[in-house]
Amino acid sequence: MSSEEISNLGNESRTFAPSAAFAAHANAKPSLYTEANSDYEGFWEKQATALAWEKKWDRVLEWNLPFAKWFTGGKLNASYNCIDRHVLEGRGDRVAFHFEGEPGDTRTLTYKDMLREVSKAANALIELGVKAGDRVAIYMPHIPEAVIAMQACARIGAAHSVIFGGFSAESLLQRIQDADATLVITADGGFRKGAAFALKPVVDEALLGTTNVRKVLVVQRTKQETAWNADRDIWWHELVERQSDVHVAESFDSEHVLFILYTSGTTAKPKGIFHTTGGYLTQTSFTHKIVFDLKAETDVYWCTADVGWITGHSYMVYGPMINGATQVMYEGTPDTPNKDRIFKLIEKYKVTILYTAPTLIRTWMKWGDEFPNSCDLSSLRLLGSVGEPINPEAWMWYREVIGHNNCPIVDTWWQTETGAIMVSPLPGITATKPGSAMGPLPGVDATVIDDEGKVIGNGHSGYLTLNKPWPSMMRGVWGEPERYRETYWSRFEGRYFAGDGAKWDEDGALWLLGRVDDVMNISGHRISTAEVESALVSHESVAEAAVVGATDAMTGQGIVAFIILRGGIDHVEGEALTKDLKAHVAKEIGAIARPRQIMVVNELPKTRSGKIMRRLLRDVAENRAVGDSTTLADPNVMKLISEGLQTAKSED
Ligand code: WTA
Repeated sequence: MSSEEISNLGNESRTFAPSAAFAAHANAKPSLYTEANSDYEGFWEKQATALAWEKKWDRVLEWNLPFAKWFTGGKLNASYNCIDRHVLEGRGDRVAFHFEGEPGDTRTLTYKDMLREVSKAANALIELGVKAGDRVAIYMPHIPEAVIAMQACARIGAAHSVIFGGFSAESLLQRIQDADATLVITADGGFRKGAAFALKPVVDEALLGTTNVRKVLVVQRTKQETAWNADRDIWWHELVERQSDVHVAESFDSEHVLFILYTSGTTAKPKGIFHTTGGYLTQTSFTHKIVFDLKAETDVYWCTADVGWITGHSYMVYGPMINGATQVMYEGTPDTPNKDRIFKLIEKYKVTILYTAPTLIRTWMKWGDEFPNSCDLSSLRLLGSVGEPINPEAWMWYREVIGHNNCPIVDTWWQTETGAIMVSPLPGITATKPGSAMGPLPGVDATVIDDEGKVIGNGHSGYLTLNKPWPSMMRGVWGEPERYRETYWSRFEGRYFAGDGAKWDEDGALWLLGRVDDVMNISGHRISTAEVESALVSHESVAEAAVVGATDAMTGQGIVAFIILRGGIDHVEGEALTKDLKAHVAKEIGAIARPRQIMVVNELPKTRSGKIMRRLLRDVAENRAVGDSTTLADPNVMKLISEGLQTAKSED
């Protein structure tokens, strides 16, 4: 985003003060901010005591910039904290998950049920030879076995690497290889948009590549016909069901690796962000309690994210389960069978806390108020948003139509790398402005700075940085220790650079302004321009490609590609070619990376040093007058591109 574009954000004067009724019972207290400011380590140490530790830590923090270790010497088990503890303390009959499949099938799993299922799964993993420290790839539809598999890994100390079910065989293989996983847990398929889709064939295709995967454990979800490799594949219901339902969780070091989760960076190769145990669990459970105000005995909490993303990890599988939450889990899409599906489920399960993404809120706005209005949403008492900046209009609609002006909204900013929410209002404490994430949480030290690293005051925009280590911070990039330092800690000395633009407004409220690097945000999913470019140039017709994220009213950003064809390829086959290229990208990376638009050009705008000027291409993609192009090696290029596109358009 250029500075002109962002300058008119953050001029919001509407403010909503917390209601006295909410404030009277809020989990968060204003004193949290002062406590954290006066004794940073003491503050986080206090939050860590909420977990069950088999052995207490010796030191709260070991900070060797940029490497942090939290609660060293301490020992605990993540799954024990999420499950056993509730059963042992008499909460075993509380519902952990109300699961609803897309076709309408349902399952209720109490914490006692989870203990039984996770114990059996853990025993099954042991029988398959999985040991503490191994990596297990999980490629699943959004069904309870996904959570059970993650918890089973945590239970035996194996790191899970969940790969979102929308990724292609190529992406899956890359991630399996990078983490050197020895087991894949998957399903025959799942249900989406009213039909069964297949997952297992994608795994089969991925495993044609070279890996150390010995076994594939397959959940039967759809009962579709599934190709089988008897030496390698095992049905979940055959192996897991015959296991003992007793498994004693072993404790691991606080810094034991809990999981790896791949995310897009600014290069074509995704980064394996890894998180460890004690600090991650401390911060996810603490933030879940104060940001969502969870009252575990009475609330029904629903985070609509897929377990394949960090939001599903932190605010479904770990934070809420540690807090003993009752959750809703839904397999399918929001418009199956009708556009009121989510609202029907809120009514059915009397959901009190809803955590979702701006792209879905904008989709609901487009579909029309009649869908939410036809359901009883009066159980809702708090609404959350995550994944991308929420525009003030969507925020207001969320407040009025979904929340009936009755629910505080928490716009939560964080990243796969931060592990937990870093910036958010606190319900019952913070007055909110539509579209603003308001400010850093207690125990988070955030600063907005300019290009030179100078601190920026109210009314100006710059880069969001974090200045102190925090318990749930990533511990590194899997297999690439230097990449962690280079990517996050080298641009500004002593500060973690998040990759986002931000602005303090005149009242000191913080506005997130989107990515300032070459990472796009499509419906809240991170995709790098380099990844899509590399997929495009792997196609035989493409010589060169430049990709930009263009503003899109519905998805936040849409992928627009500019390509130069190889010599001898005929431009006239235009439409068939772009269709083919879109399918090619979807095959290489996954459907989420399919470009919205592909434009064939003769030249790309480059600086004299050969760097593509994406800013100018974004102007074209967003139908704006092209900005300053004086630093181009060939100043005529933009004119040629615009002219060429106009001719192409008039031919359509
Ligand atoms: C963006 C998702 C504005 C941001 C939890 C960040 C947001 C990236 C917000 C991380 C928000 C996330 N307001 N932007 N409330 N939340 N983002 O790793 O650009 O999938 O850097 O983590 O999403 O995406 P990730």
